[in-house]
Amino acid sequence: MKKKLIVANWKMNPPTLKQAEAIIRRYRDVSNLVVCPPSIFLGKIKLNNAKLGAQNCSWVDSGSLTGEISPKMIKSFGCKYVILGHFERRSIFGEDSKTINLKLKAALKNNLNVILCVGEDKLDDSYLIKQIKDSIKDVGRDLSKVIIAYEPFWAIGSGKACSPIIAENRRVVIKGVVNSKVLYGGSVNQDNYLDYSNFDGLLVGGLSLKPEFNSII
Ligand code: PGA
Repeated sequence: MKKKLIVANWKMNPPTLKQAEAIIRRYRDVSNLVVCPPSIFLGKIKLNNAKLGAQNCSWVDSGSLTGEISPKMIKSFGCKYVILGHFERRSIFGEDSKTINLKLKAALKNNLNVILCVGEDKLDDSYLIKQIKDSIKDVGRDLSKVIIAYEPFWAIGSGKACSPIIAENRRVVIKGVVNSKVLYGGSVNQDNYLDYSNFDGLLVGGLSLKPEFNSII
């Protein structure tokens, strides 16, 4: 996917800094790549051409929020991107589109690019459209720093990627709501990534930790 945006979402991996540094040494350091390590590693990951991203941030720049990390903090560590609204944040940590909307506005205020994840359990246009609209509420017309990542829930980490026909249908639905870049995410691997060439790029989890990742960037 040369020239397309490839986002590496490491999630809560790997368990040690030493292993994180080994993964980074392996990466092709190209400008269309965004690397999103766990936030505790952000200050240790050195990139030349690739960009740094965080996997989450708070909705305020500082305050009494034990355990949270603010958009200003990740910015000060060199982040240009932040992933917001990932399915795991929504389903495991109970984040709803209202919270994600607050986070998104705080990230944009800090001039960060937002990778806004949206998805669905079963195909449901109105559910998908509402998720997007609620998440970008009050942002205004300038969505140049908002990138949508379509990740059907069943495809995340399951090895069961979305069929290219359904993915294309969902891309068109999303484009009908926002004129933003749209990425595909969910069980992307070195054998299926070209199925999503209509998208503006990919959000990659598991594969981004493996040596084979280089073959798709
Ligand atoms: P996966 O994860 O590539 O391991 O399915 C994608 C994601 O959750 O962003």
